[in-house]
Amino acid sequence: MLKKNLEEALNQQIKNELYSAYLYQAMAAQCESMNLKGFAHWLTVQAKEEVEHARRLYDFINDRGGRVILEAIDKPPVEFGGVNEMFQKVLEHEQKVTSMINQLYQLAQQENDYPSQICLQWFINEQVEEEKSAAEIIGMLNYVGDKGQGLIMLDRELGKREG
Ligand code: FEO
Repeated sequence: MLKKNLEEALNQQIKNELYSAYLYQAMAAQCESMNLKGFAHWLTVQAKEEVEHARRLYDFINDRGGRVILEAIDKPPVEFGGVNEMFQKVLEHEQKVTSMINQLYQLAQQENDYPSQICLQWFINEQVEEEKSAAEIIGMLNYVGDKGQGLIMLDRELGKREG
């Protein structure tokens, strides 16, 4: 059985994951408006992944006999600057999520809740990937800048993301 404090913290994380989905979908919407369809696609796939992350926690709480409570999701920003700045914000956001997951893991350790630790290990690994993919795109953007032919090529590349 899930302890109350851990249940509450996991419910908060469901909200945080759904906010991430909202944030990336808002970024995708801006890319659509800039006619950067590949960037918009990449961010939409990312938003879907975030919903899956929330779903994973939702299932875990239920499997442990806890009660899922869905909290209100904040409104994301509307404008994020150019794509360079936008992906810098993606990375910063993922770093923030990493620290949230780490705090959750610490709580699961304090409570000697081993199943929660195992569930959260998946998220710890996932955060390595999340930060890595944002950093890779920033690296490419540093080469191509945020306009011109290089950006169009990168847009095509990101448009190939599966999901
Ligand atoms: Fe669910 Fe991007 O972390």
